[in-house]
Amino acid sequence: MTDAKIIQNKNLKSEYKIIDHEYDVVIVGAGGAGLRAALGMSAAGLSTACISKVFPTRSHTVAAQGGISAALGNMGDGDHWKHHVYDTVKGSDWLGDQDAIEYMCREAIPSVIELEHMGVPFSRTENGSIYQRLFGGHTIEKGKAMANRACAAADRTGHAILHTLYQQCLKHKTKFFIEYFAIDLIMDDDGSCRGVTALCLENGVIHRFSAKTVVLATGGYGRAFATCTGAHTCTGDGGGMALRAGIPLQDMEFIQFHPTGIHGAGCLITEGVRGEGGYLLNSEGERFMERYAPNAKDLASRDVVSRAMTIEINEGRGIGPNKDHVHLTITHLDPEVIEKRLPGIKESSRIFAGVDVMKEPIPVTPTVHYNMGGIPTNIHCEVVNPTHKDPNSVVPGLMAIGEAACVSVHGANRLGTNSLLDLVVFGRAASIQAKKTIDPESKHKPLPEDSADYSLSRLDRLRHANGSLSTAEIRGHMQGTMQRYCSVFRTDKLMAEGVKEIKVAAANLKNIRLNDRSLIWNTDLVEALELENLMGQSVVTLTSALNRKESRGAHSHDDYPDRDDTDWLKHSLVGTTDLQKCTITYRPVIMKTLTDEIETVPLAKRVY
Ligand code: FUM
Repeated sequence: MTDAKIIQNKNLKSEYKIIDHEYDVVIVGAGGAGLRAALGMSAAGLSTACISKVFPTRSHTVAAQGGISAALGNMGDGDHWKHHVYDTVKGSDWLGDQDAIEYMCREAIPSVIELEHMGVPFSRTENGSIYQRLFGGHTIEKGKAMANRACAAADRTGHAILHTLYQQCLKHKTKFFIEYFAIDLIMDDDGSCRGVTALCLENGVIHRFSAKTVVLATGGYGRAFATCTGAHTCTGDGGGMALRAGIPLQDMEFIQFHPTGIHGAGCLITEGVRGEGGYLLNSEGERFMERYAPNAKDLASRDVVSRAMTIEINEGRGIGPNKDHVHLTITHLDPEVIEKRLPGIKESSRIFAGVDVMKEPIPVTPTVHYNMGGIPTNIHCEVVNPTHKDPNSVVPGLMAIGEAACVSVHGANRLGTNSLLDLVVFGRAASIQAKKTIDPESKHKPLPEDSADYSLSRLDRLRHANGSLSTAEIRGHMQGTMQRYCSVFRTDKLMAEGVKEIKVAAANLKNIRLNDRSLIWNTDLVEALELENLMGQSVVTLTSALNRKESRGAHSHDDYPDRDDTDWLKHSLVGTTDLQKCTITYRPVIMKTLTDEIETVPLAKRVY
């Protein structure tokens, strides 16, 4: 770390203090993926810094509830990782890459055992092994029976994992930069990544990190929508940085709606509720999922359940004065099961819905929950830029993991519990790859003097912006547009209007006004930087959605109701730098598995 230098530049309204650092690896984000990577890299002897805009244990992984999948077979159901592969490929509606899916499902088993050994306080079975519950879309032998595959710590599994990983990082001496906002990647002219810039929120000093590898672990961008289960911090900052660096994002049209967000509040009610025996009811008191998914019923895949709920509501069988939600009930469950396995949702239902789950049903509605798309990577977590001559060419010095990334293991629809798994397996994979490829003895190539100029000019422009629209007004416009035009059911007309509208919202960024010009805890400035990140991803999401002329997984297109494997069995890659024009390219889906221990899951109709 250097002493602070003063940067004064005629293009800037203010002067800035800047401090330089050198690390083998800089990880942006301290959720499950970032922390799992950080501990592996630190333990491998790499100097590792982790930058986070919130205290690590407040990262959004803390809110994950129902479980982490791994075919441990602890409940005696004969589970096997091969069943997990089949379910994940089917869940993805065949858009997931089968080599990556095999890797994730196989590595699930040692990864979860490793977590147990690190100290994650999993719930236990009578004989002391990790308790596993049912979850949507997870089955034994291609749907013969439902699988108990979700390893759970009551309904606070993310909380348990995140705290354990943070403790492990401290043990392995990861260097944390807490409450630092990462502004932009430092890219070389040859397209490689050389580091990242960040703002210390406490004192306004700019930090410039030179890194042999930067890892983006910044999570999803749920806050592009008006209602989501994600925290206010879920602004997809890494995706915004990647777009500005000229890297297109993959499969952004696939937005997961979790079936059971609390109506009005958006808070998550875990699918584990249905795993423990809860079910959905419409205004006629009917268990309607029996009509939509006769075998799996309430435990069908999330896209299937969300669509069924939306149809019930659209056809007038919703509940409440506006008939705009349905009920999730567990009043029939043994109160001991609720106390032991679902204490968190009992509390959040009381606080956010005013409901005693022992006696009353919970009002729920499909709510934006997860982004299947993200920064494209290969199986080693290295970012690829398919617009280069070779579509598999990597961006040297840049990795992405977790919800920020698209490996792609979730394809067009993610199965519940495969998200915590993705974080842990690919956080671990990133550390394995970093150990192989980074030489801790090698010297850093000096960063050019002007390497922070781009970040500083963005920051300075926003800080002094004096237009006529507040950040909240522009953000509200964006969120309303995404909610209305990029929802569960889509049409060409709707999405074309949405693309037009989101570009209007994006153009309004030029007219933004900030009121706080200071550099000390300037949340006005942070929200504006986050809004720019969200806006880029909103533009490419709607553009990708309008471009895909089929229905697959979470992309349900009324004008093209069928999956079209002839023309659309491919990943879409959409980039933009000016938020008005987008580039669209494609990558083939990898249908071949990683090893010959398992065969490709052949294309088939997806029914539950
Ligand atoms: O329902 C849940 O507990 C959410 C899990 C997930 O998104 O993986």
